[in-house]
Amino acid sequence: MLLPVASLVTILLYLIARSHGASVSSSPAQTFLGIGGSGAWWPTDLYRFPEATRQNLSQLLFSQNGLGLSSYRYNIGAGGVNVSNPTRAPETFYVSQGNYNWSADPQGVYFLLEAAKQGVPSITAFANSAPARLTSGGASCNGDFVSGSGTAYGTYLADVVTHFRGQGVNISYISPMNEPDSTFGPSPCNQEGMRVQPSQRAEVINGLYSALSSKGLTSSVGILADESSSLSNAGNEYASWLPQVVDKVAALVHHTYDFPSDASYTSYISNTKQLYPNKVTWMSEICCSLGNPDGTGKGYGQGYDPTIKNALMFTGMVFQSLVLASEPHYDFWTLVSNGIGCSPLNNPSCANTANSNGWTDGLIYYDSAYATNKNYQIYLTKHFWTYKHFGNFVKPGSQRRAISGSDASKFTMAVSTSSNYYILAMNPNTTDSTLTLSFPDTVCPSGGVRTSASEDFAQVSSASKSGSSWAMPLRSLSLTTYTFNRRAC
Ligand SMILES: *[C@@H]1O[C@H](CO)[C@@H](O)[C@H](O)[C@H]1NC(C)=O
Ligand SMILES: *[C@@H]1O[C@H](CO)[C@@H](O)[C@H](O)[C@H]1NC(C)=O
Ligand SMILES: *[C@@H]1O[C@H](CO)[C@@H](O)[C@H](O)[C@H]1NC(C)=O
Ligand SMILES: *[C@@H]1O[C@H](CO)[C@@H](O)[C@H](O)[C@H]1NC(C)=O
Ligand SMILES: *[C@@H]1O[C@H](CO)[C@@H](O)[C@H](O)[C@H]1NC(C)=O
Repeated sequence: MLLPVASLVTILLYLIARSHGASVSSSPAQTFLGIGGSGAWWPTDLYRFPEATRQNLSQLLFSQNGLGLSSYRYNIGAGGVNVSNPTRAPETFYVSQGNYNWSADPQGVYFLLEAAKQGVPSITAFANSAPARLTSGGASCNGDFVSGSGTAYGTYLADVVTHFRGQGVNISYISPMNEPDSTFGPSPCNQEGMRVQPSQRAEVINGLYSALSSKGLTSSVGILADESSSLSNAGNEYASWLPQVVDKVAALVHHTYDFPSDASYTSYISNTKQLYPNKVTWMSEICCSLGNPDGTGKGYGQGYDPTIKNALMFTGMVFQSLVLASEPHYDFWTLVSNGIGCSPLNNPSCANTANSNGWTDGLIYYDSAYATNKNYQIYLTKHFWTYKHFGNFVKPGSQRRAISGSDASKFTMAVSTSSNYYILAMNPNTTDSTLTLSFPDTVCPSGGVRTSASEDFAQVSSASKSGSSWAMPLRSLSLTTYTFNRRAC
């Protein structure tokens, strides 16, 4: 068979690219849905900050000048009954069945409305617990979902969603049980939580689905479940509930507090695909780990690390979900945190220095003593700047393209839109390197941005031509995004 010259040239270029560097696939992998995080529990505190700071924070989260998040998770409070930490005790709308106080939770609602106003396209409402009056212990933690209350609970959640959609807040997902394996007791508790036994989960989904259905909302509001804290719980427990309600669940969302190895993540994905074909999975919550840029040493635990070291470790986790697991959506946990572990008024540089008292659970921090010392500063970490690469460049509707070849790494990702390619590439090593990449169509390089120990999303030079490929310097311990226009220069 005689191949057209153009094909031969393409094949030749492909072989050259393969032997030196890497190449971007001509066909898309997954289409992205969102990059975001949760509105728990910082709204309780940040609502009390000056309006200018609340506005600044909203910009930092939702505008393209800030993180540019495309997903926001609003926490439907359960009233905080028996929760000892007041920051973690969100108010509830629930008064009694069918009777609601829509003035409750002005704190959470303020930032929900900001997300909506700034056009965040994917808004999820999630609950850690049913309203206290519906749980087994009459509290917002240390109890269980009461079998038989699925209709009551589902009706309440659907009413909350309907209320906000009526105000122009496009809630498109609802998650009725966040981390259902734990009661988060004993009381007094550190946070809200309600155990939902695996055998009870189908009832929760059925109750919510019928309530959404009676309002004609099942095609516009998808149910997310079951927010298991770990991939291993998720996979082990699906058999107890999912087959009964699989058609009523929009996506299987999970947390990754087991900090899975690549092999466990891959096996979760392949088992789930095999048992529940066509059911999409995604990562909906993670935080709280120290560890190294290459991913070694990670695991749930205390300690505040605002440096590039930790930012790259979490960046590696995002790549694990989006590249290795091919998931379409990623949510970090709490976006803003008071777990800074030090007093910035007493020691101005402490916000930028690791300590063992705090927690690495936010991208932006504030002084835990703000109420008494009136310190209303907010502090950005390196994790804020690395996550901005994903928030700014991995937009809903864009697609991932696989990268193959000798320069391909699990920390490199290509994103395509109709007009651009974005190459997000991390160098977790202490030596500089260069990524050499070829594309399946004509491109023109158009700048880039880098976050490293000394740079925060700083402009860098465009990729430079290297034969039929493009060379992109990757500074040691950095995350760089290079932009290419899909046209001739
Ligand atoms: C509704 O919630 C608001 C805000 O917490 C509170 O001030 C008000 O007293 C509540 N109203 C009722 C009827 O509970
Ligand atoms: C609401 O969100 C859904 C899903 O993200 C989207 O398809 C729809 O266009 C949005 N509607 C409005 C009015 O923004
Ligand atoms: C809530 O706290 C009260 C007062 O300490 C206690 O009596 C009750 O048992 C607690 N409820 C739960 C479900 O733990
Ligand atoms: C917003 O907060 C950031 C982080 O503290 C600060 O650098 C910036 O100057 C603030 N912007 C405004 C307009 O207040
Ligand atoms: C980092 O080092 C590892 C191990 O030597 C190597 O495989 C990888 O390609 C390096 N990554 C970059 C971006 O230089």
